[in-house]
Amino acid sequence: MEMDAANGKHSVGGGSGVGSLLRPPRIFCITLLSIVFWAVIIYFVSTMQGNMASLLFKPSAFSLPSFRFGRDRCVGRYIYMYDLPPRFNADLVRRCRQFSVTDDICKLMVNDGFGAELPPGDSLPEKGAYDTDQYMLELIYHARMKRYECLTADPSTAAAVYVPFYAGFDASLNLWKSNLTDRDALSRDMADWLVRRPEWPSMWGHDHFLVAGRATWDFIRSKDGGWGNPLMTYPAIRNMTVLTIEASPWQGNDFAVPFASHFHPSSDADVLRWQDRMRQQERRSLWGFAGGPRPGNTTVRAQIIEQCGKSSSCAMFGAKSYHSSPDQIMGLLESAEFCVEPCGDSFTRKSTFDAILAGCIPVFFHPISAYTQYTWHLPRDYRSYSVFIPQIDVAKRNVSIEEELRKIPPTKVAQMREEVIRLIPRVMYREPMAKGLVFKDAFDVAVAAVIDRVAKRRRATAEGREYNDSFDGYFSWKYDLLEPGQKDIGPHEFDPYM
Ligand SMILES: *[C@@H]1O[C@H](CO)[C@@H](O)[C@H](O)[C@H]1NC(C)=O
Ligand SMILES: *[C@@H]1O[C@H](CO)[C@@H](O)[C@H](O)[C@H]1NC(C)=O
Ligand SMILES: *[C@@H]1O[C@H](CO)[C@@H](O)[C@H](O)[C@H]1NC(C)=O
Ligand SMILES: *[C@@H]1O[C@H](CO)[C@@H](O)[C@H](O)[C@H]1NC(C)=O
Ligand SMILES: *[C@@H]1O[C@H](CO)[C@@H](O)[C@H](O)[C@H]1NC(C)=O
Repeated sequence: MEMDAANGKHSVGGGSGVGSLLRPPRIFCITLLSIVFWAVIIYFVSTMQGNMASLLFKPSAFSLPSFRFGRDRCVGRYIYMYDLPPRFNADLVRRCRQFSVTDDICKLMVNDGFGAELPPGDSLPEKGAYDTDQYMLELIYHARMKRYECLTADPSTAAAVYVPFYAGFDASLNLWKSNLTDRDALSRDMADWLVRRPEWPSMWGHDHFLVAGRATWDFIRSKDGGWGNPLMTYPAIRNMTVLTIEASPWQGNDFAVPFASHFHPSSDADVLRWQDRMRQQERRSLWGFAGGPRPGNTTVRAQIIEQCGKSSSCAMFGAKSYHSSPDQIMGLLESAEFCVEPCGDSFTRKSTFDAILAGCIPVFFHPISAYTQYTWHLPRDYRSYSVFIPQIDVAKRNVSIEEELRKIPPTKVAQMREEVIRLIPRVMYREPMAKGLVFKDAFDVAVAAVIDRVAKRRRATAEGREYNDSFDGYFSWKYDLLEPGQKDIGPHEFDPYM
């Protein structure tokens, strides 16, 4: 119930701040609670059966007009979604043949971005398994949002505004162009289009968000040129919340959301069954690594490949293409207690989320691989679900990964694995058509977090406070890791690695 009799906020007669200073005696609370209880019952009955009851007993006499019983369950959750000109999304999908000369990207875009459905394998779920590519998040979020239960056609009632721009697909098509005018054309067009919308000035874009299915690095080209386009440096986009698969620890308005793994379930029961299966899984290897080498023989990856190769307790799978053998890759992750997730081309990996799906405890070598990312989805206490071995210790000091893992007592390992299995629903993307599900998936968690971020700003503006929730620069990541209620940043255990 919303009302808290103890803090006297709705104290009878008064209604000012007085009631909140004087704690009402206990007997009064009980009386008040029972009055409120009956008011709730009668109000509820009245909304079901017409106005008769309210004639006898006006709920407003108890200052209840704003309580939520029987009210719209979408209140505070409405999303307004732009119907963008097709050049910003659908047309980019139609050009899928141009994404790559070697790979068939069109095939990866089917089923709203989940890719081709996979036949049941030894290590995949019986149904709901897909060959999902790491760059498809724009399609996945858009498909879910089209069926979001609280979409509104009225932007003035929306808690947040979704911009279904396929920024990553634009990048995939155009980042390779050396002519910067051409490379940036569509992202500039997007920013210009947004600021001309009547929906823009109400919060100057601070209520807007978009999902880019690539890393932030692709969208923050510095002024002196180099890689990427400048999408996330445009003033309009800087006012928005941008979700990416890898956020920059030094940028304030981008937030990482989980990569999509292989399982997109349609029911709560499918998820529970999978979690049980991962609990019972026999884990034959102490540790495992799914991935290939990268240039350089003094990297943590080179060390992993060397150490794993020499150990009979480590399993390794280095497929040429991720898409060639999802069943074998999942099989490896499901049969290991720990899965090592080193940096590769960038800090994060889709494999981290494959490992969580497999109930395998992830081992990270850099805080940016997970701990400064995914702060909406993964627990703040990283030791509860993962192991951290600084990559410098492995690459430079020849620390043995296996020895570090063997130091962890079996009861602790069991606790961590249970925590990983508990995280599975939160980091997966469910089938968008599915109805009546109770569990919250990665989409639900992300949308709730965006709405919360916008609501804080809205509240501050209404109270006339100056508000700043977007800290760029060297310590930006520390703001994302603040504990609830904590305002100031200070020294952090990750300082030596950042
Ligand atoms: C880049 O392309 C635009 C047209 O798309 C053209 O006007 C411009 O001259 C080109 N710039 C260079 C440096 O080639
Ligand atoms: C971004 O937001 C600020 C207020 O925080 C506003 O003054 C500015 O005009 C906005 N930028 C754009 C491009 O709308
Ligand atoms: C590492 O690479 C360097 C230069 O490429 C080479 O000289 C050296 O032998 C390599 N070390 C090992 C252990 O492979
Ligand atoms: C690293 O340690 C292993 C044993 O733990 C040893 O066999 C190997 O030679 C060491 N490598 C270097 C470069 O010191
Ligand atoms: C927000 O705070 C940061 C760090 O204190 C500062 O650099 C930035 O200019 C502030 N932005 C605004 C709009 O006040």
